[in-house]
Amino acid sequence: MEYMIGIDVGTTGTKAILMDKNGKLIASALEEYPLSTPRPKWAEQDPIDWWRATVKTIATVVSKSKVKPDEIQSVGLSGQMHGLVLIDKNHNVLRPAILWCDVRTTEQCHYITEKVGKELLVKSTCNPALEGFTAPKLIWVRDNEPAVYEKAFKFLLPKDYIRFRLTGEIATEVSDAAGTILFDVRNRKWSQEVLDRLGVSSDLMPPCYESIDICGRITPKVAEMTGLKVGTPVVGGGADNACTAVGNGIVVTGRTSASIGTSGTMLTPTDTPEVDPSLRAHTFCHCVPYKWYIMGVMLSAGGAFRWFRDTIADREVEQAKNEGIDPYEILTKEASQAEPGCEGLVFLPYLMGERTPHGDANAKGAFFGLTLRHKREHLIRSVMEGVTYGMRDSLDIIRNLGLNVGQITATGGGARSQLWRQMQADIYDAEVVTINIAEGPAFGAAILAGVGAGVYDSIEEATDSIIGITSKTQPIAENKKVYNEYFQIYRSLYPALKPEFDKVTELVAKFTA
Ligand code: XUL
Repeated sequence: MEYMIGIDVGTTGTKAILMDKNGKLIASALEEYPLSTPRPKWAEQDPIDWWRATVKTIATVVSKSKVKPDEIQSVGLSGQMHGLVLIDKNHNVLRPAILWCDVRTTEQCHYITEKVGKELLVKSTCNPALEGFTAPKLIWVRDNEPAVYEKAFKFLLPKDYIRFRLTGEIATEVSDAAGTILFDVRNRKWSQEVLDRLGVSSDLMPPCYESIDICGRITPKVAEMTGLKVGTPVVGGGADNACTAVGNGIVVTGRTSASIGTSGTMLTPTDTPEVDPSLRAHTFCHCVPYKWYIMGVMLSAGGAFRWFRDTIADREVEQAKNEGIDPYEILTKEASQAEPGCEGLVFLPYLMGERTPHGDANAKGAFFGLTLRHKREHLIRSVMEGVTYGMRDSLDIIRNLGLNVGQITATGGGARSQLWRQMQADIYDAEVVTINIAEGPAFGAAILAGVGAGVYDSIEEATDSIIGITSKTQPIAENKKVYNEYFQIYRSLYPALKPEFDKVTELVAKFTA
């Protein structure tokens, strides 16, 4: 039998999976690590923690699976997007990695927007300069830590640092490079024009490949540490969102995924780069050669529901503990007692600011429309509805570009309850399906590894043979009508509250300084 390993260098931990050619999961392992926030708005990690976790998880899956090392055909890497790792010419890490969720770079975003210009951003990078992306972080280091910048020999994305440690090769691939804002997303290469306008040397950029290309092999030292065979190929792999899409079979047009995890993403593959003229959604290169995807990103989706659980739902958490079940089961059961629309209670899920559609780090959460009639079930349900309205905002951007959304595959926590699946079908006005795979980015990375090593002919062939539909939910006409009307209220709240979001941000900064 042929086996592949997929690794996801995530924000909370690194996960490795070992699967067989049929997509059967043979072994998996997860190693967590901390995220440090040394100052407000900062989010950093030590790349060495990723490395230790990678070695440990690979060694665990290899030994747990009892698969012979020479049966493991290849390794695929996936990882959190946008993180900045700088290494010097001796390949030492120069400072902690600055992560996708770090928002210290508002000033650098303005600088990039001015220097590059909106026209080139739409034409080349296909995305705006947002705090989360990589280029503003690189410019921040140049502005604030010039001695570090001087010493920088290469910049690497998180999974590419791991590739370097596994294989000794400095390389990246198109799906992750697309999230840097230094990349010509249309032509799938570094954008010399953008680099020139920002005064950044192209020498800093790693060579860039397609996701299924083999761009390194396991070194003897790593083989000894992990149990892998020397020379096992490592493919380009992909950004976590792109790999998740691969793992969910979202690899051809006419399929869309709605993932409600901590963050929320609405993602549709495209045959050509499709760009929202207002740059509210992201346009990135897909892991499928010469395909792209458009994606709306909500920063707090399942994260908003988790906030509710952790902050307000002590009662349900306690009950769940006593009954030995998941607190979300109790929460969604309670939510089902409220009617769609929650009798006018509308929740805004902008608990960490928002990317799509507002691109606003100052946006805040809110419960709007509270009355004495509202009970606990309304509060719970309104959080779920508010998150789903946020996802619908992304879907509308995609639909307004004239793209064929087709069937929507629900994944993450939002796919688990029938209530949330029905809510999604009603609010999206689309058939919502679930699939037999719940493995996330590492699974997609393993598929890419299989294609790179010739185990599968193509990504499409692999996903068609592995992935099957497990449930289908159709929209209910009556609910659709109710949600559509409340969605209009939801949409009007952000613009109405925007001045107050800004003022309250200033006040908080003033009183917590
Ligand atoms: C996407 C993004 C996040 C990270 C999280 O643009 O910032 O989804 O990739 O891992």
